[in-house]
Amino acid sequence: MHKGIALYPGSFDPPTNGHLDLIERGAKIFEDLVVAILRNSEKAPTFSVAERLEMLRELTADLKNVRIDTFEGLTVEYAKSLDATCILRGIRAISDYEYELQMALMNRKLEPGLETVFMMPADKYSYVSSRLVREVAQAGGPVKGLVPEVVEQKLRQKLDPAYKMRDTRVLDSLTRRAKKRKA
Ligand code: PNS
Repeated sequence: MHKGIALYPGSFDPPTNGHLDLIERGAKIFEDLVVAILRNSEKAPTFSVAERLEMLRELTADLKNVRIDTFEGLTVEYAKSLDATCILRGIRAISDYEYELQMALMNRKLEPGLETVFMMPADKYSYVSSRLVREVAQAGGPVKGLVPEVVEQKLRQKLDPAYKMRDTRVLDSLTRRAKKRKA
């Protein structure tokens, strides 16, 4: 096990099974792993930072050397404030490589002492991204197996039009019944 703190930064909007797979792998290698959600006021996220924080905390509750936090500004500055020695990032396919290489080299330029470590999530998650999960859920498609159950449930409540319609129908029928009882 590598001594010291590693930082796994990201958007996690929403957390996917790929993210969790990487967190579990990272937790086996690093003594302490801080998973940090970027607070980015420019983006309009699907889940608020507080919702993502809550989901990630629930999902990693069993991993004693994993802590969930949020940050804003530069990743390297936040890493320094933690005394982290490594940034952990996942690479799923070759298409991730260019973006990740640019980020890793920029971070190295900003903070030469901080290393970026790449890990590969399980191949069954190699096509899973938060963006695609959001897109599928938004159109009412199934995301079972791609995200943890708690995330699936929250995505449905937030995005799935069929789920929303069902919810309204249930509410309507309850209101009608209540009115009948009063009459
Ligand atoms: O999950 P994501 O969206 O791929 O994560 C990207 C993230 C948050 C790691 C990246 O955007 C980031 O580090 N942002 C903080 C600002 C920063 O440090 N930028 C310079 C790094 S190149």
